[in-house]
Amino acid sequence: MQILNGKKTAKEILDTLEIDVAQRAATGKKVPHLAAILVGNDGASETYVASKVKACNQIGFISTLIHFDDKVAEQRLLEKIEELNEDMSVDGILVQLPLPAHISEKKVIESISPLKDVDGFHPENIGRMVLGEEEAFISATPHGIMLLLEHNKIPTKGKHAVIIGRSHIVGRPLSILLSNNSKPGNCTVTVCHSKTINLKEICLQADIIVAALGVPKFLKVDMVKEGAVVIDVGITRVPDAGKKKGYRIVGDVDFDEVAPKCSYITPVPGGVGPMTIAALMKNTFKACVERN
Ligand code: GUN
Repeated sequence: MQILNGKKTAKEILDTLEIDVAQRAATGKKVPHLAAILVGNDGASETYVASKVKACNQIGFISTLIHFDDKVAEQRLLEKIEELNEDMSVDGILVQLPLPAHISEKKVIESISPLKDVDGFHPENIGRMVLGEEEAFISATPHGIMLLLEHNKIPTKGKHAVIIGRSHIVGRPLSILLSNNSKPGNCTVTVCHSKTINLKEICLQADIIVAALGVPKFLKVDMVKEGAVVIDVGITRVPDAGKKKGYRIVGDVDFDEVAPKCSYITPVPGGVGPMTIAALMKNTFKACVERN
């Protein structure tokens, strides 16, 4: 069994980006600028946005964090996005989800210029991703998982990948990417969800399992074939009085029992999470290069 070390792979990607940015700066070219919008005070969202801003600062990107309180009017948010769409200095815009119930996520996502939509949530980018077009921004978590497989040379051609979870952000786009005629890719993909019958039997046929349903320790050892590759997308906060922060992050895989049976497995934390950040930085760099 080998650990798929997302922290290490993400660092390699960020180190390369840092060099690329320095090269742009040295030749008088624009450096990437990410604008992140956070609405409200959800602890997890605050942490995620802070990690994104920190990554920008580490590798020489410019970042702007715009923080609205949770009562902000939808119109105010849309106006801000319009301002960022028109701001030539801004290359990438992300609005951290979820948003408060009175704000339409659909309206917000569709208001972001597809050329600056580094989260890859805009229908235009999702359409381009489905068509396998190079211009597409691919949302950060599925993109990060593909990069993790690529950098660690995990064979995917002809493999049966089972994805548990059909979210717009992870399961669904990942099912398209893994089935694409690409490298990595060329998997036969099964997407499972809460209404799936015989989930265990389907998982037992998987060469690659991606657990992306958001239920801590859901994937048990009796659901995994010997030698499978297991990717854990879960990041649930579970109260833990023994921790300084009062919680710990738990994945969707029962790591201790599943790990010995795998060929490769991602840990939580230190697996998919850092790769998501690396993929977002890659998208922001791409936005900058393509817009300039
Ligand atoms: N909420 C959960 N994941 C994400 C993500 O990748 N991007 C944004 N903007 N919000 C999220």
